[in-house]
Amino acid sequence: MSKNVVWSGGYVSTEEFENKAGHRSGVLWFTGLSGSGKSTLARAVQRQLFDNGWQVIVLDGDNIRHGLNKDLGFTEEDRIENIRRLSEVAALLQQHGNLVITAFISPYHENRKQAQGIIGAERFHEVYIEADLETCKKRDPKGLYEKVEKGEITRFTGISDPFEAPEDPALKIDTSNLTEQQAVEALISYIDTNFKL
Ligand code: ADX
Repeated sequence: MSKNVVWSGGYVSTEEFENKAGHRSGVLWFTGLSGSGKSTLARAVQRQLFDNGWQVIVLDGDNIRHGLNKDLGFTEEDRIENIRRLSEVAALLQQHGNLVITAFISPYHENRKQAQGIIGAERFHEVYIEADLETCKKRDPKGLYEKVEKGEITRFTGISDPFEAPEDPALKIDTSNLTEQQAVEALISYIDTNFKL
């Protein structure tokens, strides 16, 4: 950063935005393997909360890689930069009164710590969307595990690239053993407890 950029403050505060929205703001940081259910659950939770008048923004890894982050691939360096940028975006959105749900694999522990630092520990809720690899392979919603089998994709998380599971997440949703509705209910219950004003 240039030493000639100066922070400019005095805008509408997060608290004012929250009061207008009628709920607290913050980030539910979903992490988990491809096919674990991050996007499906983010979509369902957003729909339910939106229908009840909440301001909920979903940041989805696949979608953001079509635009803002289309210059990034899946090397360790690129994944770290992907998460750094998205943490900054999530932080801005939550500062403006939104409940933000992020759906990124975000496979590295240190990198998620960095996200927590950017967003602020009290606003960052790590949610482990857990499913074993066999279940993810069976679901294979985008046909990517099949491509991995055929050797068409390298550095695939959980197979040829690591996934460091969260050690102490704020919430764990085991999608191998819950129905989608049960998983949504668990998430909504957590959100009610932590984000209702
Ligand atoms: S992250 O690792 O940088 O957090 P992100 O969530 O943005 O990943 O993107 C993951 C999505 O990209 C997956 O859901 C999948 O659809 C797609 N993808 C393509 N190649 C890979 C790969 N090598 N590893 C993981 N996901 C991949």
